[in-house]
Amino acid sequence: MALVLAFIFYFLIGISNSYGQLKVGFYDETCPQAESIVRNVVSDAVLSNANIAAVLLRLHFHDCFVEGCDGSILIDDGNPNAERHAFGHQGVGGVEVIEKAKEQLEAVCNGVVSCADIVALAARDAIALANGPSYEVPTGRRDGGISNISLADDMPDVSDSIEQLKVKFFNKGLTEKDLVLLTAAHTIGTTACFFMTKRLYNFLPGGRPDPTINPAFLQELKAKCPQNGDANARIPIDSGSQQSFDIHILQNIRSGFAVLESDARLNDDRTTKSIIDSYFGLLNPLFGPSFEADFVDSIIKMGEIGVKLDFQGNIRRICTSFN
Ligand code: HEM
Ligand SMILES: *[C@@H]1O[C@H](CO)[C@@H](O)[C@H](O)[C@H]1NC(C)=O
Repeated sequence: MALVLAFIFYFLIGISNSYGQLKVGFYDETCPQAESIVRNVVSDAVLSNANIAAVLLRLHFHDCFVEGCDGSILIDDGNPNAERHAFGHQGVGGVEVIEKAKEQLEAVCNGVVSCADIVALAARDAIALANGPSYEVPTGRRDGGISNISLADDMPDVSDSIEQLKVKFFNKGLTEKDLVLLTAAHTIGTTACFFMTKRLYNFLPGGRPDPTINPAFLQELKAKCPQNGDANARIPIDSGSQQSFDIHILQNIRSGFAVLESDARLNDDRTTKSIIDSYFGLLNPLFGPSFEADFVDSIIKMGEIGVKLDFQGNIRRICTSFN
């Protein structure tokens, strides 16, 4: 009897231990090559097109903010109401890189590594390849079973007020500090002129631009994104440093060289501005907070939004469709 009870006891403990949390090295035993396979695929993709690093980082953000980091954005099954068609996901890409890694993973460890984890790992590798900080990613996410366009209605938008941005991040368990640091992901990559029209040509009554733009920079932006020009033309978001992952973006934001409207808003608000400024204190390199270390904390936190564990999700065979 006692033996049976002890057995049940250990069985229950075993169950409770396997639930609960993501952990670094989740695939160490079940698919030891998992992280190196993802890294190789990402590095090949970035070598052939450096901007893929930015695309993969953005994909992780858009995955996590809708239905949690569960690969829901990857679903491309012909349904016009699939999440990926949402307005707030315009321009999101990188799915082919995730799918390529998935194919290689299925070949060596069939049915083990989730698409959601591949997205999180790919973003990590992309950051490192852009000379950003290296960090360990907790894994063990499972893939979700929902892809619904209306669930993306609350994606942060370039034209959101600072209050709206704060609320949208807060609703995902993220603070004002996370908002600043995660927005600094705009240190790499580009935006379509499409997202610049309002800021450059229709921000204030009379067709006037956002007054916080440095005047010389305004002329430069207007030349690159002329009114009624090609809305699909692309310009760097971190002017002068779009290929390297660094704090330069925050320097641009605090000095009138922000490109995206939502980036500029971080410098108008007292709280978010003081967070930005904290990385530029006189004694900063020695005593101040570290931009890289704080970014890593924030992106790991973002990677934990609404994750599905064990029975809450599954492992897709193909990342773009449900099993
Ligand atoms: C705060 C709210 C945010 C807004 C309103 C926003 C908006 C945008 C917009 C409009 C673009 C240009 C898209 C295009 O033209 O293809 C963009 C690009 C990008 N975003 Fe954000 N973003 C936000 C936060 C984030 C976060 C949290 C991350 C990642 C942690 C991120 C990563 C990126 C990257 C890497 C790019 C460049 C993509 C490329 O080069 O194709 N963004 N963002
Ligand atoms: C999508 O989500 C919305 C909002 O939660 C819901 O009203 C709608 O029924 C969902 N559609 C499908 C096809 O599940």
